Amino acid sequence: MKTLIKNAEVFDPRNNLEGKYDILIEGKNIIQVNEKIKNQGYELIDGANKVVIPALIDIHTHLREPGYEDKETVKTGCEAAAAGGFSAVAAMPNTNPVADNPAVVEHLKLKSKEALVKVYPIGSITQGSKGEKLSEIGTLAKTGVKALTDDGHPVMNSEIMRRAMEYASAFNLPIIDHCEDKNLSKDGVMNEGYYSTIYGLKGIPAASEEIMVSRDIVLAEMTGIHLHIAHLSTEGSFKQVMAAKKRGVNVTFEVTPHHLILTDESVGDYNPDTKVHPPLRSSRDVEVLRQALKSGEIDVLATDHAPHTYEDKLGEYDYAANGISGLETALALLFEHFIKSNDISWNDLINMYYYKPAEILNVEADGIKKGSTADLIIFNPNRSWTVEKDKFKSKGKNTPFAGQKLSGKNEVTFVEGKMVYDDRGGKNEVLY
Ligand code: DOR
Ligand code: ZN
Repeated sequence: MKTLIKNAEVFDPRNNLEGKYDILIEGKNIIQVNEKIKNQGYELIDGANKVVIPALIDIHTHLREPGYEDKETVKTGCEAAAAGGFSAVAAMPNTNPVADNPAVVEHLKLKSKEALVKVYPIGSITQGSKGEKLSEIGTLAKTGVKALTDDGHPVMNSEIMRRAMEYASAFNLPIIDHCEDKNLSKDGVMNEGYYSTIYGLKGIPAASEEIMVSRDIVLAEMTGIHLHIAHLSTEGSFKQVMAAKKRGVNVTFEVTPHHLILTDESVGDYNPDTKVHPPLRSSRDVEVLRQALKSGEIDVLATDHAPHTYEDKLGEYDYAANGISGLETALALLFEHFIKSNDISWNDLINMYYYKPAEILNVEADGIKKGSTADLIIFNPNRSWTVEKDKFKSKGKNTPFAGQKLSGKNEVTFVEGKMVYDDRGGKNEVLY
């Protein structure tokens, strides 16, 4: 059985694709990419007026299993990923129990076997992500984790972070760093600044993030490890990372769509779906990150998909859980705000949302070429739609973008040659 995608606008910077191509898929692989491929009884997909790119890889996804299956499961999180245009996600370890030992990782791997997209496990830096004792980093590495992080929490003790880096470098694992000085963020619930004063909410200063970025750059320089800063959100953090890169420190960073699109002003209606960690920042921070995006200085785009139940987000802003359910809106938002306006190209997006995350996680990403794994999506740039919580495959309906009209959408996702999501004609179907 062969599938032929015809007449699509195909992009892939590493394989020099930018224009109309036909793509032939057989089994798990792409077997031909050509300007014209004759249909010899293949299953035909009309790609006219559509864009085909490698399916995205999300380096920062909370799948919540085990322990928080009411928020999300591997199954539903991967369905959301497939719908959003991803063929792989890296699963954050802040589950219950935390992925600080091989048993939890093996459990995730088992669950992932049935899932629609690939799941790359990430182990915790410290036991229970409590920041006190190192996890079994060697055994975690043997179990196949692709990185280490205590995401959701910082590693407050610098000595422990130093040791973690030394172990991580012995096993050639990157550290994904949730940068937050808890003494500064304390019980803050939004960005500290003009709007936190106006809205009467407790603030989290930019310094809470920047101090830890600074510390961990120093430690990364000392240990030679690859440090990847998660959800970078401030101008100060950005400047420090750029300066460190210049000195040759092995540091990369990711930015989320919500930190590129929303500012702290949007907390104004006290909608708990705007509550996230790190918080939505000032218009100045957002502007700096947008400039960085346009100038090609952002390494990675990532959702920080953080699904929560309705109850977790219910009630007063102060008590609502932190997080945004992002897998099903990320690509369409980036298209709407940055690709459509030509601030970035499709090829830029592919670098930030496919090649670079794969490089950091040290996983396969051969793009669209003869012989590579058929992980690709068909995006319709002329499909207007409205973000509706009820249509989410994710259990987490917590999106601040609900009700927004967007003008392009992922319509088909292929993972290892198999169509796992089909939204042609508005089907919105996941396919097992
Ligand atoms: O908003 C967030 N939610 N930020 C984090 O760092 C953790 C995440 C979660 O696990 O809910
Ligand atoms: Zn985090």
